[in-house]
Amino acid sequence: MKAAVIGPGAMGCLYAARLAHSGVKTWLVDHKQARADRLEKTGVVVEDRDGHTLLEHPVIAAHVPTGMDFVLVLVKAYSTPSLRLPPETPVLTLQNGLGNVETLCTMVGSARLMVGATTEAATLVSEGRVRHMASGVTSFGAWTSCSCAAVRESLINAGFKVELTESPGQLVWEKVAINAGINPLTALLNVPNGRLLQIMEIRQLMRDLVVEATKVASTEGYRFNQSLVEMTEAVCARTADNISSMLQDVRAGRQTEIDAISGEIMRRAQLASLPTPRTRVVYQLVRGLEGR
Ligand code: PAF
Repeated sequence: MKAAVIGPGAMGCLYAARLAHSGVKTWLVDHKQARADRLEKTGVVVEDRDGHTLLEHPVIAAHVPTGMDFVLVLVKAYSTPSLRLPPETPVLTLQNGLGNVETLCTMVGSARLMVGATTEAATLVSEGRVRHMASGVTSFGAWTSCSCAAVRESLINAGFKVELTESPGQLVWEKVAINAGINPLTALLNVPNGRLLQIMEIRQLMRDLVVEATKVASTEGYRFNQSLVEMTEAVCARTADNISSMLQDVRAGRQTEIDAISGEIMRRAQLASLPTPRTRVVYQLVRGLEGR
């Protein structure tokens, strides 16, 4: 089995190291040549909470090679349009945000696309070094007709808990609603996820943000069996010590995914003439943080 993981962030390193460890011939794709050269030497390290470390040397490449059994896309949402993907290769996206699926469909076609979300929590400690904060579930499904069996088996063999779904669009919206609540607030307040539950005013604001996202999802026909507010609070509790990906970006001076999360929720709300005042304010504030 051969797999390419695109994006050497926290998730990319976690998935690449575990896949390589399980015997999948794994490429970790990094378009930044200088960083790729360094990763080639150091390899990828995953630290778990018990102090165990896993060091793996996936092949580091600047581009996705041809002949892969599958490609796992874990780049930031704003990088999706610049990806170069070989035709004929099944692609799984586990990215945050809205809009990735539409972009990937134009690149590889809907019949080769699998779409999902992960609740693994990991922090990039330094280049190629990840701290695995909490185990989660990797859920995904075919966007239209792609077979998910081989990818599912590879991820299970690599130690991930996997669930297949018939409605990946719903999954994307669930994750976006959770991210719309947690990510901007942790970034703005500079706190780990769990802290959002402890300050009553902030907890309420997080709930309101998730409700706004859920209403926008419903204009696209999505209905949720479980309360997304409760799901978001459960994620905060489970990943209490985790530094959200948006706060990690802000601390590192990188662009955040606010545009693909709150920005895209706002744009879709506007199309449906739905007000999302809180989402707009946190969007503007995070943009302000990025511009400092
Ligand atoms: O983006 C993130 O950090 C994660 O999706 C989540 C669920 C908020 C946990 O930190």
